[in-house]
Amino acid sequence: MQEPFSIAIDGPSGAGKSSVARAVARELGAMYLDTGAMYRAVGLYMIKHGIPLDDTRQIAENCRFADVSVRYEGGRQKIYLAGEDVSEAIRTAQASLAASSVSVVPEVRRRMVDLQREIARGHCVVMDGRDIGTHVLPDATLKIFLTASAPVRARRRHSELLAKGMNEPYEKVLRELIQRDETDTRRSASPLRKAEDAVEVDSSELSLSEVVEKIVSLFRAIERGKK
Ligand code: DC
Repeated sequence: MQEPFSIAIDGPSGAGKSSVARAVARELGAMYLDTGAMYRAVGLYMIKHGIPLDDTRQIAENCRFADVSVRYEGGRQKIYLAGEDVSEAIRTAQASLAASSVSVVPEVRRRMVDLQREIARGHCVVMDGRDIGTHVLPDATLKIFLTASAPVRARRRHSELLAKGMNEPYEKVLRELIQRDETDTRRSASPLRKAEDAVEVDSSELSLSEVVEKIVSLFRAIERGKK
């Protein structure tokens, strides 16, 4: 049987982490865990229970009641909150903002990290997030720091929104993305930063399949080196 391996993919929002991580997991027959979805589910819990998103004390006190679980259905990850499938509900702009607020609260992070490690234990896993290589899986087989320039990321996000029928001005999308980069890198609890032993991959000029190929070949080189 194959020895369990783990691949950590971190980076700023809009770098394409989830598409890349999902495809790498499929290629290697591993499980994919989208950790951002878990913070989004906690954010949704706070919205549903009327807990103010700027009240870190109340968020810290209430996060233990947010019953977040991850299930795999037909090979796809589904997120449940108190037994309800919220995989779609967590994708709204409101849930995104809420995720950003709850993810700065150390108590929330502790709970999510425990859950992430528990899910990963004994499995071959590809995890994407902000603190996977630095904190969640410090001994990951391969760590990737996936980046792309801010204008490239904003353009991708803008096209995604247009495809969903949301016509946000590009300048606004870019401004919000830069703002989110700031929050993610400046927060005191597990700020976004490249792990020392991570390989940086800039996806600005690469297609999805080129990025996936690059990561898969880095991984295979590590596996070959072990033999
Ligand atoms: O990747 P995403 O947009 O779904 O993430 C939602 C929020 O959660 C985002 O503000 C960053 C935060 N997050 C985090 O702090 N740590 C992670 N491992 C994953 C996401």
